[in-house]
Amino acid sequence: MHLFTPFECRDVTARNRVMVSPMCQYSCENEDGLATDWHLVHLGSRASGGAGIVMTEATAVTPRGRISPQDLGIWSDAHAEALEPVTEFIASQGALSGIQLAHAGRKASTFRPSAGGDPVRGESGWTPVGPTEEPWPHDEPLATERLDSAGIDRVKRAFVDAAVRAVEAGFDVLEIHAAHGYLLHEFLSPVTNTRDDEYGGDFDGRARLLEAVVSDVRAAIPEGTPIFVRISATDWLADRRSWTVESSVRLAAKLRTLGVDLIDVSAGGIHPDQQVPDTGAHYQVPYAERVGESELPVGAVGGITTPEGADEVIRNGRADLAVVGREHLRDPYFALRAAEALDRDAPVPRQYTRGFQ
Ligand code: FNR
Repeated sequence: MHLFTPFECRDVTARNRVMVSPMCQYSCENEDGLATDWHLVHLGSRASGGAGIVMTEATAVTPRGRISPQDLGIWSDAHAEALEPVTEFIASQGALSGIQLAHAGRKASTFRPSAGGDPVRGESGWTPVGPTEEPWPHDEPLATERLDSAGIDRVKRAFVDAAVRAVEAGFDVLEIHAAHGYLLHEFLSPVTNTRDDEYGGDFDGRARLLEAVVSDVRAAIPEGTPIFVRISATDWLADRRSWTVESSVRLAAKLRTLGVDLIDVSAGGIHPDQQVPDTGAHYQVPYAERVGESELPVGAVGGITTPEGADEVIRNGRADLAVVGREHLRDPYFALRAAEALDRDAPVPRQYTRGFQ
């Protein structure tokens, strides 16, 4: 087993084990959530660049689930249609396309990072929703709405509708975003979920929303389409009751029984007090190894920047996929370069062969 061993999952096979990590582009300049030329060129280049799976950025299942007004969305058929050229091009390059389905919860309605990231107020902003009224602790927090049971049902429905649309748009893999302090993570973590109804309280209560989303999506899409779930393996808040690696292993075992195919193992994001231990090379790989104890395949992400490093993660069975984020911003051809460095067959586009001889 090595980085270029194909990854088989349900009815699809990735040509190698490099996945482009989901990365927000904040590039829907019309604030309508519709994919633009940027998305086609950005994602398409990583497919030409040899990655096995090209995952979109967090793609909002409802308008209120956007982090910023420029986020990508999939809350209508028009959104799915705008994504079709992206999936078609990715497929034409021999890669699998994945879409990360997301709801930003109480971290919604902020300016994109290049504009400062502060809350958007007034007409262009909106009221975020969360497990409680407790807002994200901005300097001047945004009033936040606690989801009642009808609101929770609407969220579940929005994930299912988005999943069905994504399959129709041609995506091969769906990833449900339950990490980084966004809505589904906010329900999982006792730091943010202090509800006393069936969606709060103990582990089972806090996991109920994610489990329902996963089950409902699984029932609505073809058997052959894989579902990945991205989690934060830990809240990095050892000083208080919080989500831990042990909770993640327990969750993964449960998600396995619900038809999830892979856990994409990230960390953090639930609260600004988090204590991040280290962000060096492969800093989150040990979490992937632990979550892999659930016997579900796992993706490792965080500080994977070299062909040899990515290969090592797979060779030594630490993870099933090497998920590469920022290195793909620096080099869309990371996977082609990795194949060359590791002396593996590379899917070089015919237009580029003279560059790789
Ligand atoms: C991210 N990250 C991220 N994660 C996620 O689950 N959904 C997303 O939409 C985004 N957006 C995003 C945008 C940008 C510009 C960056 C740099 C990061 C996190 C990302 O997927 C990855 O987990 C981290 O960057 C760590 O991996 P690397 O970059 O060290 O390989």
